[in-house]
Amino acid sequence: MELVQLSAGTVEGVDGYLVQVEVSRSEPSTGTGRTTVVGLPDAAVRESIDRVTPALFSSGLRHRPADHLVINLAPADRRKEGPAFDLAIAIGLASTMPENKLPPPPVDTVFLAELALDGTLRPCRGVLACAIAARDAGLKRMVVAAGNAGEASVVAGLTVYAPTTLTDLVGWLREGLASAPVAAPEAVTYLAPEIPDLADVRGQEFAKRALLIAAAGGHNLLMLGPPGSGKTMLARRLPGLLPELTLDEALDVTRVHSVSGLLPAGIGLLRTRPFRSPHHNVSSVGLIGGGSVPRPGEVSLAHHGILFLDELPEFNRATLETLRQPLEDGHLTISRGGGRLKFPSRCMLVAAMNPCPCGYLGHPTRRCTDNADAIHRYRGRISGPLLDRIDLHVEVPAQKPELLSKGPDGETTADARVRVVAARERMLQRQGRANAALDTRGLRKHLHAAADAIALLDQAVNDLGFSARAYDRILKVARTIADLDAREDVSLDDVSEAIGYRVLDRPVG
Ligand SMILES: Nc1ncnc2c1ncn2[C@@H]1O[C@H](COP(=O)(O)OP(=O)(O)O)[C@@H](O)[C@H]1O
Ligand SMILES: [Mg+2]
Ligand SMILES: [Zn+2]
Repeated sequence: MELVQLSAGTVEGVDGYLVQVEVSRSEPSTGTGRTTVVGLPDAAVRESIDRVTPALFSSGLRHRPADHLVINLAPADRRKEGPAFDLAIAIGLASTMPENKLPPPPVDTVFLAELALDGTLRPCRGVLACAIAARDAGLKRMVVAAGNAGEASVVAGLTVYAPTTLTDLVGWLREGLASAPVAAPEAVTYLAPEIPDLADVRGQEFAKRALLIAAAGGHNLLMLGPPGSGKTMLARRLPGLLPELTLDEALDVTRVHSVSGLLPAGIGLLRTRPFRSPHHNVSSVGLIGGGSVPRPGEVSLAHHGILFLDELPEFNRATLETLRQPLEDGHLTISRGGGRLKFPSRCMLVAAMNPCPCGYLGHPTRRCTDNADAIHRYRGRISGPLLDRIDLHVEVPAQKPELLSKGPDGETTADARVRVVAARERMLQRQGRANAALDTRGLRKHLHAAADAIALLDQAVNDLGFSARAYDRILKVARTIADLDAREDVSLDDVSEAIGYRVLDRPVG
């Protein structure tokens, strides 16, 4: 019997882990042997053998499919999914045939790729997560398809090889992998798509100010306005206003996209903050993740970025409720079989809606056809608990057409971001977190509000009927307004401005 061992990897949730692949081959005494794959393989892993056999033959390698073959994937108690084991199984099978003249596979190397029938390596999901696991386990080298070389190379300390075909790899292994060409570190390409600029938005000074405050303090934001008033346009400009991703944050973002199969081939690192805008008929699995092989949902794909919910009242209420905990905690857990998977979900929520069912309440030229009751019911469709998590609600009225065509350019994203970053710096130095993330005690401690500012808010609570929750949200926003102005004390003007961003707390006008 010939026995060969080598390393592969797979993902569970957004985390990678290493899998030992053991291949044993023995000649049956009579007739045809059996091929067995053990260690909780899913269908794609079991089908691996059907891809690997032709791939071996088309690469000119010797293999006897009629032998007794056992492919054991360890640890045995974790489910293995996907086609990424093809490469390790192929090298394992080839190595058990002495005629192929292959040395024992290097023990410090992870093999991770799908194989085409002609022996070409194909990219697979989750390579970054596996590369992190390989590095953490002290492994030194990784063999992947060229399309995955970028993300594998992002992990410092791993040498990455990206053969085009199984034939290339076999040649390299015979010579010793150490002398094979390394996937060039230049192969690490960054995806930093052009983010639209704030200067494109004409007028809308009030909404732009709210956007700036949201960016600075990390506050969730809801925009109310008629169709075409620029709500989507504004929301898309938020990622560019936020501080740049740190390397660790970029790795987090890339890992989630890679696991979901959403990392474009050849891309090493996603460097811009995600902007996700799921359609309103999204399911709760689509929104927060899950499924039989649990995948991240939109809230995890938006990790470190923006989750944009357009036409908020059209979303299923129960689906929206499931967002509350992930938004609050910055992560979520999904139970699966005996275990629990943890997905990241630290993102900002931006929502948009019409002011009324017809969309034209408050429009300068068009008439709203809804009565107060219908407007009330429409607004009531928004989940209360979710609304409670939104610090800023602002109106985004339709702009006059002449302003759209020849209004002056506004502040650019680059200029606005300087102010956002400075304000965020102040928050981090003072309290170690953005203002939106302060709890009630932290808020009391770091507020530094003038007496007349608090008196104004108390008055407003009495007159306008703000809830206790709204009270804290107004103070947080006021704190951010002072930080944008580099002031330590929160003034009456700050509180007064913050009260203006609570349009849904006021009766329908
Ligand atoms: N303030 C504005 N400045 C410049 N263009 C605008 C503005 N508001 C709307 N537009 C134009 O109108 C289009 C529709 O805006 P959009 O953001 O989709 O509106 P909404 O999401 O509120 O329905 C935009 O793509 C843009 O071309
Ligand atoms: Mg829109
Ligand atoms: Zn209306």
